[in-house]
Amino acid sequence: MRTIDWNDENGTIIMVDQTLLPAEYRMITCDNIGSLCEAIQSLRVRGAPALGAAGGFGIALAAGCSSTDSMEVLLDELRKVGDVIKATRPTAVNLAWGVDRVLDAARDGYDVSGIRSIVLKEAKAIADEDVELNKRLGAHGAALLEDGDTVMTHCNAGRMACVDWGTALGVIRSAVEMGKEIKVIASETRPLNQGGRITAWELMEDKIPVTLITDSMSGHVMRRGMVDSVIVGADRITQDAVFNKIGTYTHSIVAKEHEIPFYVAAPVSTFDFVRMEDEVEIELRDGDELRFMVGKQIAPLEVEVYNPAFDATPMENVTAVVTENGVFRPPFLLDEVRFLQ
Ligand code: MRU
Repeated sequence: MRTIDWNDENGTIIMVDQTLLPAEYRMITCDNIGSLCEAIQSLRVRGAPALGAAGGFGIALAAGCSSTDSMEVLLDELRKVGDVIKATRPTAVNLAWGVDRVLDAARDGYDVSGIRSIVLKEAKAIADEDVELNKRLGAHGAALLEDGDTVMTHCNAGRMACVDWGTALGVIRSAVEMGKEIKVIASETRPLNQGGRITAWELMEDKIPVTLITDSMSGHVMRRGMVDSVIVGADRITQDAVFNKIGTYTHSIVAKEHEIPFYVAAPVSTFDFVRMEDEVEIELRDGDELRFMVGKQIAPLEVEVYNPAFDATPMENVTAVVTENGVFRPPFLLDEVRFLQ
């Protein structure tokens, strides 16, 4: 079952509600842009590639909901909806990429019904391609892992963060599929615990051995020689940095200090070919994510909170970036990754 998909029976988006994991696996439906934006903002659907699919399906949903019979009006409506969807989460570039890819395709339509079918076809293509690209990416990355390795990962870059298979966890899955024995150390990823709630659950479902640690234990486990390599996903890759879940940068410094390879796995759609690190907006989230945990107050209500969702890891801390087009070792030109190796 895919993490996010289109329901042809009623023209809606269906997705796993990831906020309920691991206690409950429930599919929910988004039948309007308001509910889709809420789902994105509250991380019911999350992870860069899954957000790319959400952005594409969002435009298809808006096209289906529109009552206009004017092509110009429809295109204008879709552009405005696209801006609303893109604003929900600014750092993960795939969201804007998915929206823009479908909006670009819409311009090829000759009439309203043509536009509707083009945008739906394009949105479905994004979702289908994601699965196929992750498999290719996984095969490239699997070659970097040795039989018997223990690999540390952060946040969730698994099938739940994508349409299926995963990027960082996709590499691990591919290595296991090739017959390698791989153990995983997953950091819990405060404040929303995607590592504990989602990565640990996904790997256990696949019977891949996983040990959960707190984020602050990464120094200890790497110093103790318990980690052979680190592999994470990415929300945006600029010429000079990798944006990923907050805490990734810290793990990269520890890995560098201990000469442990630090790999990033992401599809080409996660690359931002025009921006540098300081031009990227880092999403700031509600302070209540730190003041409360599963509904229980864990900090003074009035305490000031700084809660960036992502950080930037400088490219010099990255050993290699794995994409569907191959493995790239810095320094590389972003343009190089566009082409098949
Ligand atoms: O805030 P989230 O859960 O959407 O953040 C997700 C991450 O940071 C992932 O590591 C990243 O999107 C890569 S997913 C393949």
